[in-house]
Amino acid sequence: MLINSPKNIALFNAILLALISGVILILISIYVESIDITIIMVIIAVIFISSFFLINFSISKFFHEKIDIIYKTIGEPQTTMKAEKKNKNSNDVLDLVNQVVLRWSEEKKQEINELKQMASYRREFLGNVSHELKTPVFNIQGYVDTLLEGGLEDKTINVKFLQKTQNSVNRMIALVEDLEEISKLESVNLELNVESFNLYELATEVIDFMEQKALLNKTKIIINPIASKSIKVLADIRRIRQVMINLIDNAIKYGKMDDPVVTISFYNFHDNYLIEIQDNGIGMPEENLVRVFERFYRTEESRSRDKGGMGLGLAIVKHIIEAHRQTISVRSNLGEGTTFSFTLKMA
Ligand SMILES: Nc1ncnc2c1ncn2[C@@H]1O[C@H](COP(=O)(O)OP(=O)(O)OP(=O)(O)O)[C@@H](O)[C@H]1O
Ligand SMILES: [Mg+2]
Repeated sequence: MLINSPKNIALFNAILLALISGVILILISIYVESIDITIIMVIIAVIFISSFFLINFSISKFFHEKIDIIYKTIGEPQTTMKAEKKNKNSNDVLDLVNQVVLRWSEEKKQEINELKQMASYRREFLGNVSHELKTPVFNIQGYVDTLLEGGLEDKTINVKFLQKTQNSVNRMIALVEDLEEISKLESVNLELNVESFNLYELATEVIDFMEQKALLNKTKIIINPIASKSIKVLADIRRIRQVMINLIDNAIKYGKMDDPVVTISFYNFHDNYLIEIQDNGIGMPEENLVRVFERFYRTEESRSRDKGGMGLGLAIVKHIIEAHRQTISVRSNLGEGTTFSFTLKMA
C-alpha cells in the first residue's frame, strides 16, 4: 500500500491503532477474565473505523488548505487537479500537485521568454525606424540649408536640390505608408475580402502596371508560356495584387544588369495553386534566406547596390499570405537569381 493520499495514510494509521489496541486489550483480557472476546472485537472495530475517519478528515483538510493556497497562487482552479487525477487514474495528491506546479512554471518561463523577445524586437524596430527616417530628414535639411544660403539663386543647383528634396520627401512618405500598413496588418486580424478571380488576368494587369519600372531597368516580365490562362483562385484580390507588385518590384530591383527576365509561373498543387515569381538577378546567400521576411531586413548585396528599399515589402507580403492561411517561401543562389513561391486556394 502506497502512503500517498490522505485515505491511505488514514487506513495505515487506523490499522496500526487497531492492532496496538487489539494487543493491549488481549493482554488485559488475560488478566481480567470477565472481558468477552466479542466486546474486544467490537472495541477494535470502533477504534479502527473512528480513527480512520478522523485521521482521513483532518489530513484531507490540512492537505486541501495547503493545496488551495498553491492553486490560488498559480491561478488554477482545484478542478484542474480533479481532472488530472481522473486522467492519470492516480491517487498521489502531492505528485499531481507537483506536476501541475511544474507545468505552470514551464508555461511562465515560456511567457517570460516571449516577453523578452518582444521587448528586444520592439527596441530593434524603433531603432530601425529612426535610422530609416534619419537619412532623408538630414538630406532634406542639407538641401534646404544650401538653398537658403544662396543656392536658390544658383541655377546649376537649385532645381537639382529641389528634386533631391522631393526624392527624400517621397522616401519618407513611402516609409510612413509602409509602417502604417504593417502596423495595421499586425494589430488587427486582417480582414480579407475573399472572392473567386482569375489570377492569370491579375498577373497580366500587374505586369502592365509595372511596365514603366521594368522599362527603366530593361527588364522583361513574362508569364510562363505553358501556363493555363484560367487560374481560378479564392483570395482577396486587392491584397494579392499587393503581393504580386511587391514580389515583381523586388525581382526588377534586384535583377541582373544585362538581360534581366522575370518569369511568373503557376502550378497545380493539390487543392492549391503554387505561384512562382522568378528572376535571374543578384540572388542572395543561403544564410540570408531565413531572414528576408523580417521587417527592415536587407541583404548586403542589395545595400551595396543602393537600391533604396526599406525592407518592409516582404514582411507585408508574408502577413498577407499567412492571413490567407497559405505559405510563402524563397530559394535563391547568389549571382544566379531568386524564386519566391506562394500558394493560394483553388476556386
Ligand atoms: N528578388 C530578389 N533578389 C535578391 N534579393 C532580394 C529579392 N527580393 C528581396 N531581396 C532581399 O530581401 C530584402 C528584403 O526585401 P523587401 O522587399 O522586404 O525590402 P526592400 O525591397 O529592400 O524594400 P521595400 O520593399 O520595403 O521597398 C531586400 O532588401 C533584398 O536584400
Ligand atoms: Mg521590396
